[in-house]
Amino acid sequence: MRYTRIAGTGSYLPEHVVTNADIEKLVDTSNEWIIERTGIHSRHKVAPGERSSDMALIAAERAIEAAGIDRHSLQLILVATSTPDMILPNCACLVQERLGVAGMPAFDLVAACAGFIYGLSVADQFIRSGMYDNVLLIGTEALTSITDWTDRETCVLFGDGAGAVVLQASDQPGILSTHLHADGRYKDLLRASSPLPTQADPEDPPYVRMAGREVFKFAVGALGDVVDEALAHNDLDYSDIDWLVPHQANSRIISALAKKLDLPMERVIMTIAEQGNTSAASVPLALDIAVRDGRIQRGERLLLEAIGGGFCWGSALIVY
Ligand code: UT7
Repeated sequence: MRYTRIAGTGSYLPEHVVTNADIEKLVDTSNEWIIERTGIHSRHKVAPGERSSDMALIAAERAIEAAGIDRHSLQLILVATSTPDMILPNCACLVQERLGVAGMPAFDLVAACAGFIYGLSVADQFIRSGMYDNVLLIGTEALTSITDWTDRETCVLFGDGAGAVVLQASDQPGILSTHLHADGRYKDLLRASSPLPTQADPEDPPYVRMAGREVFKFAVGALGDVVDEALAHNDLDYSDIDWLVPHQANSRIISALAKKLDLPMERVIMTIAEQGNTSAASVPLALDIAVRDGRIQRGERLLLEAIGGGFCWGSALIVY
């Protein structure tokens, strides 16, 4: 049987750190409120001029090195992002050019915070069908560039960064399943308006806007369901999961899910305290950190999940 296996991971965080104390100076909030309601202590922020493709490139180079492959053997580059450098060309082409590997297809996927999970599913289809053997998938976000630093309901939440994986065909189990969902009826609960010059609305600039409480409620239900769906599909039980690698939107959402899975928090990869919500980059960042510090070992079962604007959400069940 042909599987998609994670051959290598990599990530990158910008140098500059924004603490809760820094945000206390901008809006009416407090370190205590932010920690209690979100679990976030600090987040990283791009330097002036630093963009999604810059972060993506470094994460990609680290993943390629970890995979031990020649970059010229890549056959597809996918970038999950809602904050590309430009409207066109896509971010994947910018990364491809700087990797010096012209020729193979390169495209972006926009599914907000679920972008990396969507990307895993797309890559898995290309690999399992036999079309490609080596795919580079990156999640990268410069979310602080679309953050309204006067809006206390959102500016405390977001951070920047990138994570990448090299995915390879293998006869050993890798991705066991992916399940994707979307429901556009919720489009107004989490959004950033058009950056297009002729469509820009001065009353509604393209900053992230979120109806936090409603998103929270939907996220807990949808993630619970998608996790059950993944396990049922694979005929597995909660106890069969070694690691939960969740999207890092709110520590309370993650603990609720861990509780449902009956998984102790030591088996959940948490990065939210130091990174905030990095949207499509959060799952691959968490994955890379736990692979590199030795927590996640080959052969272990990982459950990845994410939800974001759209709503778009999904899961991936993977043997690492
Ligand atoms: O990544 C995509 C998916 N995203 C998510 O899943 C995020 C989901 N939502 C959340 O994580 C949470 O809803 C938030 C962290 C955004 C907000 O937490 P909450 O516990 O749902 O707070 P809330 O919106 O219900 O607001 C509670 C109170 C309100 O005051 P009143 O009306 O009770 O007087 C807010 O005005 O907290 C107030 N508040 C703040 N206070 C201090 C809202 N933001 C802040 C703030 N600092 N930054």
